[in-house]
Amino acid sequence: MFIVAQITDMHIKPEGKLAYDRVDTAAALAECVKAINALDPLPDVLLATGDLVDAGRADEYARLRALLAPLKMPVYLIPGNHDERAGMRAAFPEHRYLGTEGFIQYAVEDGPVRLIGLDTLIPREPGGLLCAERLAWLDRTLAAEPGKPAIVFLHHPPFRTHIPGMDRFGLEGAEALKTIVARHPQVERVIGGHLHRPIETRFGGTIASTCPSPAHQINLEFKPDGVFGYILEPAAFQLHVWSEGESVVTHTVPLGDWPGPYAFNFRPKAA
Ligand SMILES: [Fe+2]
Ligand SMILES: [Fe+2]
Repeated sequence: MFIVAQITDMHIKPEGKLAYDRVDTAAALAECVKAINALDPLPDVLLATGDLVDAGRADEYARLRALLAPLKMPVYLIPGNHDERAGMRAAFPEHRYLGTEGFIQYAVEDGPVRLIGLDTLIPREPGGLLCAERLAWLDRTLAAEPGKPAIVFLHHPPFRTHIPGMDRFGLEGAEALKTIVARHPQVERVIGGHLHRPIETRFGGTIASTCPSPAHQINLEFKPDGVFGYILEPAAFQLHVWSEGESVVTHTVPLGDWPGPYAFNFRPKAA
C-alpha cells in the first residue's frame, strides 16, 4: 500500500487576515494537517496542488511553511494561479526539487508510484497554461519509465467542469495534455485543484480529478447568470491509495469532528 495525500487551495493569508474577510484559511489548514497526521497508516507522501497562499506574498509563504511544518511525511508543492514561483522557492529553500529558475516541474522517483508535478502558472492571471515546453518535458519524463505507474499532478484541471465562473479560467493546452497522457497508459491519475470541489472525468484513457479545499469551496453553479462565489460546504482532503497490481483508489475525507465511529454489532441469531 502506498498512500498519497492531496491538499489543495489553502489560500493562506498574512497573520491576522481572513480570506474575503470571512474565511480563516490558516486555522483550516492547521486542522487539516492535524487530521492527516492522525491517520493510521500515515500517508507516505503529501502533494499540495497550488493556490498554496492567497497573494504570493513572502509573509504568506512564511505562515504556510509554519503551518505545514508539523506534517510527518515528505511534502511536495506546485504553484497555482495565486502563487509566485520566486516566493515559493525563497520560503522553502530545502525543497530542492523546486529548482532555482523556470517552471516548477519535477518527478518524485523514490516511491513505487512516480509523482509528476506540472506548472500551469501564468504570472498574475487566473487561468492556466501548459505551453509546448512544459508538455514536451512531461512527454519525455513519462517516456523515460513506461513500466512504472505515475500520478500527474497540476493546479488547473484539464477539463470543463460546467461551472461557468471557473471554466472561464481554464487550462490552455489541455487537449495536448490529453494526447500525451493517452500515449502513456501507466498514468494512473491526473489530479488537480483550483475548483475547490471534488470532480472527476474520463481523460486520455485515465481519470482526471480535482480535490476540495481544507477551507472554502466553490459554489456549485451551472448557470452562467448564477452566483459565482464560494460556499462553506464541508472542507476535505483526498487520499490516493495504490497497491501492487491494482489501480489507484481515491478517498475524499471531510474535515471536522463527527460522531462515531460506531461498530456494527452483528450477533448470531438465537436458535
Ligand atoms: Fe483556489
Ligand atoms: Fe486556482
